[in-house]
Amino acid sequence: MPHFLYIKTVGCQMNVLDSEMVVASLRGRDYELVDDPRNADTILLNTCSVRQHAEDKIYSILGRLRRYKQKGPRKIIGVLGCMAQKDQQLIFERAPHVDLVVGPGQLQQIADLIEKARSGAGRQMGLSLGRRDGPAREIRRSHETFDPLRDSAMRPTPFQAYLRIQIGCDKFCTYCVVPTTRGPEQGRSPEEIVAEARILADQGCKEITLLGQTVNSYKYASGGKTTRLADLLYALDGIDGVERLKFVTNYPKDMNADLLEAARDLPKCSSYLHVPLQSGSNRILRHMKRGYTVEDYREMMCRVREMLPGAAVSSDFIVGFCGETEDEFQQSVEMVRECRFKNSFIFKYSERPGTKAADLFPDDVPDDVKRRRNNELLALQAAIGEEDNRRFIRSTVEVLVEGPSKKAGKQGSEGDTLQLTGRTICDRIVVFDGTRRQIGEIVPVTIRDCTAHTLIGEVVAERDGPDLFSIETPALRRQCEESRL
Ligand code: 5AD
Ligand code: SF4
Repeated sequence: MPHFLYIKTVGCQMNVLDSEMVVASLRGRDYELVDDPRNADTILLNTCSVRQHAEDKIYSILGRLRRYKQKGPRKIIGVLGCMAQKDQQLIFERAPHVDLVVGPGQLQQIADLIEKARSGAGRQMGLSLGRRDGPAREIRRSHETFDPLRDSAMRPTPFQAYLRIQIGCDKFCTYCVVPTTRGPEQGRSPEEIVAEARILADQGCKEITLLGQTVNSYKYASGGKTTRLADLLYALDGIDGVERLKFVTNYPKDMNADLLEAARDLPKCSSYLHVPLQSGSNRILRHMKRGYTVEDYREMMCRVREMLPGAAVSSDFIVGFCGETEDEFQQSVEMVRECRFKNSFIFKYSERPGTKAADLFPDDVPDDVKRRRNNELLALQAAIGEEDNRRFIRSTVEVLVEGPSKKAGKQGSEGDTLQLTGRTICDRIVVFDGTRRQIGEIVPVTIRDCTAHTLIGEVVAERDGPDLFSIETPALRRQCEESRL
């Protein structure tokens, strides 16, 4: 008898990838995926701990699931991911109907743990070691993931995939739970990464996004040789079938020349750089223990602009961090104005128990002030996004078509025209009218209009003409210029 699995994933791309792995291992044990928890005998929540709000949402879903469990006591309910690793036993205390709690480093055990819980062995836990709970090697091993096991049905689309090149984080920013929940930074071996990329390419993946908490800090030492992110990009660029390579998230201090050169020289490599600044104030950056100053960041931006004209840089900001004054917040505003990010993810500071910031600094910026700062920064970023998008009007960009836009929904049969959405190599969202047959293709689109977050265009039949010029990456620009000669 097959089992029916419902899985809900919240949080970052790492979690999306983890869920892919969980589904693959359960499919191997005769589980079928369903999209309504009412039809499932196994309900898994893959969770995030980065902000309190994300946790509150999970506890509220768990509250609602209590009824499911009362009606069907044989249903298995599991909490996976960062919240599982962080709250551990507390989850059973707050939600006694939960059967298993499994951290991100122990997901390879999931099928066995579910089976044990189902066969009446009681509550199950699969957790990695804490950062001080043993010898370094054992701690590292307890956080290792099992990526080659994955399931394409969970991917954002059949032709796009995430590929983890690094696990964990050693930066220990004072506000952040990730170094605790995902453990020490570890690079995966280049051989494993390249092999996995080949499999993805064989499965039809055109775009691979390399994942790491600080992806550009990636290093792997073996046999007297150290492989870095740039080396990986050179190796992956040669794989047939792969047409785009992206990588997130970058750490400002590790944005080295070799990486920028790779992004400049490799035709498949994106010049989309997500490099979170977090704050425009040196005092706040120091308290966050980010390891760089505003001047360092500025210097990095100059190098990026020089080496990669047309690069799309995006950032994260935390507003209302402990003790942030109005003046300090205005320094973040100034940096958004100066750096002209493609987009910024802006978060209100959320105190996380167990972090250095929670121990050292009071969370003393009132919530309404955080909210106002958040809105102010968002509004400025949106205005900049729109201004920058205007530059694309009348130019042509290459778009990997992801599917129908939200507006188009599920309507339309094979031959009908409907609104499609996709992304340029620099992660800009483009909508245009097309047909379902174009989904998964890379098509040239001439931009006619825009909003702050979206370019609006139409597909062009021919790849030449006076207004056709893809301006996004140096390598694409070169190709374009050469083809005109
Ligand atoms: N509060 C608010 N935002 C946070 N982030 C990480 N920890 C916190 C926190 N405690 C944000 C950072 C990071 C992004 C993934 O989440 O901006 O870059
Ligand atoms: Fe968290 Fe800082 Fe590591 Fe990013 S670099 S995951 S913010 S500790």
